[in-house]
Amino acid sequence: MMPGKKFAPGLDLPITLDRTASTSIYRQLCEQLRRAILDGRVSGGTRLPSTRTLAQALGVSRTVTSSAYDELFAEGYLEGRHGSGTYVRTDLPPLPRQTPSLPNTLPRWLEKAPPLVYEATIPPQAIAFRLGIPSLSSLPLRVWRETWGTVTARLPPNSHGPTDGDPTLRAELAAYLGRSRGLACTPENILITAGATHALDLVVRATLSVGDCVGMEEPGYPSAQQTVLARGGRLLLVPVDENGMQVERLPHGPAAPLLVYTTPSHQYPLGTRLAVDRRLALLTWAQANDSLIIEDDYDSEFRFDALPLPALASLDEVGRVAYIGTFSKVLTPALRVGYLVAPPQLCERIRQLTYLTDEQVSWPLQQMLADFIARGIWIDIFDACGISMRKSDASWRKLLHPSRISRAYVGWKLACMFILNWNPQFRPRASRIWLGSAMSSSPLLTPTILVPLTVLVCFWAMQAWRSLRFFTA
Ligand SMILES: Cc1ncc(COP(=O)(O)O)c(C=O)c1O
Repeated sequence: MMPGKKFAPGLDLPITLDRTASTSIYRQLCEQLRRAILDGRVSGGTRLPSTRTLAQALGVSRTVTSSAYDELFAEGYLEGRHGSGTYVRTDLPPLPRQTPSLPNTLPRWLEKAPPLVYEATIPPQAIAFRLGIPSLSSLPLRVWRETWGTVTARLPPNSHGPTDGDPTLRAELAAYLGRSRGLACTPENILITAGATHALDLVVRATLSVGDCVGMEEPGYPSAQQTVLARGGRLLLVPVDENGMQVERLPHGPAAPLLVYTTPSHQYPLGTRLAVDRRLALLTWAQANDSLIIEDDYDSEFRFDALPLPALASLDEVGRVAYIGTFSKVLTPALRVGYLVAPPQLCERIRQLTYLTDEQVSWPLQQMLADFIARGIWIDIFDACGISMRKSDASWRKLLHPSRISRAYVGWKLACMFILNWNPQFRPRASRIWLGSAMSSSPLLTPTILVPLTVLVCFWAMQAWRSLRFFTA
């Protein structure tokens, strides 16, 4: 008979006693209690259950539990407090913890996994000195609460949702993308995903075999590169200049990559736009080489210096572009919602994949975003973002010498991102706490001075780097 696992009451400690073993039951109990004290699962000062309660819980006689306690008393692990029971001694010396020694070598099932970069989540900070983190200041809490209220007042459906996402949200997105990005898509071409990175991963999973080549911008979005590597793809890095990816560098014929990932509207991280002649060349190249272009349109809701060009996918008449968008920039990455507009066959393949793995965004969130778009709140949010973006653009343009502006393209965009990332809840008092009391005495160290100063330093660093990269040839 298999020994049964029981729990010592009040300790949440599993005890397994095997009556068929050669070691006596009381010794087994004694050994398990001792081990629990030694490895810290039962800490100093813990009150043990009475011998009677423990005996009942374990289904043994009271002699067994009394003998086990007696032995632990004798060894010095326990102490009795008059009238109040038996306790683990509080003055036990620090005990050497037994940590299981893990093998240094990788197990067979992890051996072939490619090494990936993992970045720990950074906790919210007073000022987000990071690219790509949206400001929440344009999203009023009242509107947020109201929309959640409307959605949660409805009963959810009593079944799994469609694998490609909530039909209302897909319909709203199809209309929005038609209006603002020139995409002639129907809700059937749209799949709701858990963000842009998830959308990219789905395309890669649906199309790529281990060893297949993917063209990627250099410099480019590191997570996209990691996503391809994680799925066994090979990277073909294509340089970027002030007109975007150098499309003419893409090889033809058997060496042509199966997929090409690009950020044509606002190249990440340089901020340039893919010139129209290159857009057309890229589409022609994809058609000639039977390849797929993945367009990551991650932040085209923002208006930087000029209106964004229509999406690259809007020029595609032969189903060569998979278009990716996200709610991460205009709302927050915490939502984890994005979308993919793909040619019908690819859509079908991805629907099969997501059906298999049940990768879906939760119903209330999709309903809420559909409401956001339908009621125009979505547009209000990025209009507000656009206004503050344009304001910061304008002040930077005034602040800096006009002849330098064009050469400092990347730099001032970076500056705008920093200004947008300003957290309105961050007040001078908080800044003093943040900076430490020693520094707070200086009137110069206020956020009003510190923020532009830091931005300027970053700006100059970026400008120097860009000049080196593009103008040394
Ligand atoms: C170029 C680019 N694509 C995609 C993303 C991530 O989008 P998501 O949060 O929707 O995965 C980012 C985020 O910074 C990005 O910079």
